[in-house]
Amino acid sequence: MALLRNLHRFISISKIQPPVKPSILKNSSRISFARTASTTQPLQEKNEEVKVTFIRASGERIEAKGKIGDTLLDIVVNNEIDLDGYGACEGTLTCSTCHLIFPKAVYDKLPDKPTDEENDMLDLASGLTDTSRLGCQIVLTSNLDGLEVKVPPTLYDARS
Ligand code: FES
Repeated sequence: MALLRNLHRFISISKIQPPVKPSILKNSSRISFARTASTTQPLQEKNEEVKVTFIRASGERIEAKGKIGDTLLDIVVNNEIDLDGYGACEGTLTCSTCHLIFPKAVYDKLPDKPTDEENDMLDLASGLTDTSRLGCQIVLTSNLDGLEVKVPPTLYDARS
C-alpha cells in the first residue's frame, strides 16, 4: 500500500515538473553550478601527465609517462617496462621487488614517509640505501614530473 502511495506521489510530482528542454539547459546556471560544486579532482589535474625515467644498474634509461595519482608500479605496468620480477605482489606490500632508489633531494620531499609496513619490506630489499622506497607506495604528484629513479641491480622477492 505504501508503495502504491509513493508511486502516486511520484506520478503527480512528475506531472507538475515541466519537461526540461536540453536547449534551455545548455547555457543555464544550473550547469555551471554543477561544475563548480563538484567534489572530485578537477579533470585537467587528474589527467595531467608526469614523466618518469627509470635508470637500470647498467645505466640504460627508460622514459615513461604516468598520470597524477598513479603509483610508480602503475607506470611500470602500464608502460610495459621490462623489469624482471618487478611488482610481483601487485602492490600488496609483500614482496619488495618494487624497490627503487631516489635522489636524496627528491626523497626528502616525497609527500608521504614510509609506513612501518613499507619499512619492514624495505629491510628485505636487495641493495637497500638511505633513499630507497617501494615503487608501489609512491603516488605521483605534479611535483614529481621529471623524476629519475634508479632500479637496483637485483630485485629480491621477500615471498620466496
Ligand atoms: S609490489 Fe610488492 S611490495 Fe611493492
